[in-house]
Amino acid sequence: MSVRVTVSGAGQQTQPYDVVIGRHLLGELPGLLGDGVRRVLVMHPASLQATGEAVREDLKAQGYEAFAVELPDAEEQKTAQVAAFCWQVLGQADFTRSDAIVSVGGGATTDLAGFVAATWLRGIKVVHMPTTLLAMVDAAVGGKTGINTAEGKNLVGAFHPPAGVLCDLVTLESLDRWDLVAGMAEVVKTGFIADERILELVEAHTDGLREWKGENAADATWDVLTELIERSVRVKARVVGEDLTEQGLREILNYGHTLGHAIELTERYQWRHGAAVAVGMVFAAELGRLGGKLDDDVVDRHRAILASLGLPTTYRGDRWEQLLAAMRRDKKSRGDLLRFVVLDDVGKPVRLEGPDPTLLAAAYAEISKEPPTERPGVQVQLGL
Ligand code: GLY
Repeated sequence: MSVRVTVSGAGQQTQPYDVVIGRHLLGELPGLLGDGVRRVLVMHPASLQATGEAVREDLKAQGYEAFAVELPDAEEQKTAQVAAFCWQVLGQADFTRSDAIVSVGGGATTDLAGFVAATWLRGIKVVHMPTTLLAMVDAAVGGKTGINTAEGKNLVGAFHPPAGVLCDLVTLESLDRWDLVAGMAEVVKTGFIADERILELVEAHTDGLREWKGENAADATWDVLTELIERSVRVKARVVGEDLTEQGLREILNYGHTLGHAIELTERYQWRHGAAVAVGMVFAAELGRLGGKLDDDVVDRHRAILASLGLPTTYRGDRWEQLLAAMRRDKKSRGDLLRFVVLDDVGKPVRLEGPDPTLLAAAYAEISKEPPTERPGVQVQLGL
């Protein structure tokens, strides 16, 4: 059984598309590719060689001319050189405007494959098959694509919505426990900004989620994870369906990300994205509280839920100046003004632009008050 969530293109000159969530979904691929596609390039990282090849074989069996390109793993693939190699493959295989790309991988692969699809012949179809929780609930949905440059992450890119997304939960069976937990940070984020039921579900199932056992996970854990993915995708679909290019509403998805991105940069990308966003959310919650809107118990709920999953909630007190400088350089700041998303309450996100520097420093003092004896991100990274 599968669930289908439609992302509308209403008023944005983009086509609506479906996100299909379920198990063993390969049979859905031709339907999402649509009519007229003859050639398909499957893009996958080296670590997913077997899965990528299985998708290519299946497409071939269904009558497509199917090619595959193996990419470096993780962020290594998001470079201009790798994109240029993919353009070369597309050119040599005579890909036309009616042909398509299928991405098989985590968020880095959906970003790169989406970017290659956005730029080849000014845009061809891409279908994403995300293989991590983070990619299912965030990167694969919404059409953000991009590559990194020496100066920073995602500095080059385009909005290019996919023709469809297949979230095959089978791929989560082998997902590393800490990748699951890091993906949960974005799920929790979605709960705080838009769907309190997500928070209740996580609170009721933290043990099974934190100790993720993949294919051996209890049925109740699988059931709750499936519901969490569906709920998160529904929120993201609604938001990006209304505001693809981040002119307003879409900014709420950046809850926890202003400080989170700065932590990632400061840690030279050795922290998982979700770990950095977890700290960023507690910081944003403190900003909301000190700004006089958010109740103490909602801030406490941030700390409790994130810590119960094993995610960090504090960061080094000696790094504030460095983080502030990184936040000012972030591509999401406009002009000189720092921008944050804060909450007035659960499900009530608001934008905070150019906050008073003393408020920022006070919020940071709250999250660096109890410096951990070990650096939390390193704990997460090492999977301790
Ligand atoms: N990851 C935030 C967004 O898709 O807008």
